[in-house]
Amino acid sequence: MHIVWWKESVVYQIYPISFKDSDGDGHGDLQGIYEKLDYLTDLGIDVIWICPIYESPGYDNGYDISDYYAIMRKFGTMDDFDRLLEEAHRRGLKIMMDLVLNHTSDEHAWFAESRSSKVNPKRDYYIWRSGKNGQVPNNWESYFGGSVWKHDPETNEYYLHLYSEHQPDLNWNNAQMAEEMYGMVHWWLQKGVDGFRFDAVAHIAKAEGLPSAHNPDNLPVVPAYQLFSNLEQVHSILNKLNDMILKPYGPMTVGETSGLGPEQALAYIGTDRNELNMVFQFEHMFVDAKSSGIGKWNYREWKLTELKEIMSRWQTVLHGRGWNANYMGNHDQPRPVSRFGDDGRYRVRSAQMLATWMLTLEGTPYIYQGEEIGMTNVAFPNIDQYRDIETMNYYRHYIAQGRDKNDIMEAIWKKSRDNARTPMQWDDTEHAGFTEGQPWIQVNDNYTEINVAAAENDPGSVLHYYRKLIAIRKKSKVLIYGEYELLLPDDPDIYAYTRTLGDEKMLIILNFRGNEPEMHWPEGWTENQAKLVIGNVKRRYSTDEGTILLQPYEARVYMMQS
Ligand code: NOJ
Repeated sequence: MHIVWWKESVVYQIYPISFKDSDGDGHGDLQGIYEKLDYLTDLGIDVIWICPIYESPGYDNGYDISDYYAIMRKFGTMDDFDRLLEEAHRRGLKIMMDLVLNHTSDEHAWFAESRSSKVNPKRDYYIWRSGKNGQVPNNWESYFGGSVWKHDPETNEYYLHLYSEHQPDLNWNNAQMAEEMYGMVHWWLQKGVDGFRFDAVAHIAKAEGLPSAHNPDNLPVVPAYQLFSNLEQVHSILNKLNDMILKPYGPMTVGETSGLGPEQALAYIGTDRNELNMVFQFEHMFVDAKSSGIGKWNYREWKLTELKEIMSRWQTVLHGRGWNANYMGNHDQPRPVSRFGDDGRYRVRSAQMLATWMLTLEGTPYIYQGEEIGMTNVAFPNIDQYRDIETMNYYRHYIAQGRDKNDIMEAIWKKSRDNARTPMQWDDTEHAGFTEGQPWIQVNDNYTEINVAAAENDPGSVLHYYRKLIAIRKKSKVLIYGEYELLLPDDPDIYAYTRTLGDEKMLIILNFRGNEPEMHWPEGWTENQAKLVIGNVKRRYSTDEGTILLQPYEARVYMMQS
């Protein structure tokens, strides 16, 4: 068992534009985060991951960086950042930055130079190609819809963008660009930040020659993930980054890597690899989609058996060989209580059950803002109320193709990233106490009921439960390091597993449904031996035969008494 601080940490993710606005301009800011440090300390978390706060025109809410060395004006100044970092450190909290290495904004000074002429020294910082018979250079589909290529009249060539056209991809074959990036990462480390989440890092290398993807139906564009994800060159870049820049500082690092399973993930995080500490995997985020990537919009009913299979595979394959980053939601995903729980009658209880799941797995837990009060998806009736570039592109694309508007809106209500981006609900005053101005995106109407102030006053709230659970996890070596074993793999409703470390053993039982299933005590466990550590219902039931009778969305965590 290899003990390190980032394995024992609980991370809280802040999407700063929607967290807390301190100056009434309707956008969250650094001062807003500063004002909520007490709240975060009380919650018991250790690390704050802040989504991008760098200078940016904001087409993708900061994931389009125009200056890596400056803070976006709406968020404040570099002095505000320094003050926040200092105060966080004073309280024993760590700060993890979100860095985008795959692309910049099209307003970055490098891109202005790059696009200005074919012979500009920075031309090669980005990926430029001429068209093929008046067509785009290849058939790759962008994550945000349409082709990855954008024609630029200035030099009559195309540049590649895996995301929006405002996010041109960098060319990591250019050694000078790479050096500038390494220097930038170093600059932030010297400032004293404690870690990085590397955005879209799986994609920084593209297949040699940028070949078109297999396209039997001859479509204009097709998903081509395997041609720009997790290629060998990504590993050599990360290895170098770690060796030259990261290692002396020992920051916590997590890479965003879609399109891989745990065996492949070991190439990034294996203890022998010298690359990253953790990766965010995506397999469980597609259990309710017909296919991965852009296929996310096509909903399918999810099955608990499939979710268990995926999570258990990651738990077991990485045990002793790597380390998991566990999450059920973030700024790109729907709200977990709406997706995997019940955001109606059993909202509180199912949010607590899901929290129990995340906080009792092996790996570092990541809590996304609002999860700790059970915030839900939003269903704005009108597309004009949405802000997310991916959502807008999806809407426009399918309206243009003549698809039924109601079907499109249904998909948006389920999967739009704006579900997780409505402002944090602090209290029941206007705009949920998020801003005194006009919020950049509307607050979810349910803020009068679901908000931090109400949760503070209710001992049975999701928030109080999170606080207890985090405290329990932090004290428990078995919950952090213990080996995971799945029970009842075929049960459609119950997710149960044990965690074992030496003589210590925990049993976690989660009912993922609104019904009342029964289960036997697992082998080796009896009711008398099992001491309840935490649960989310007041009274627990057994059947007359002594089996466990679960209530809707019930969660129980037991410790084995010797
Ligand atoms: C992943 C980020 O989480 C997402 O919000 C962003 O749009 C893309 N990468 C592009 O940077």
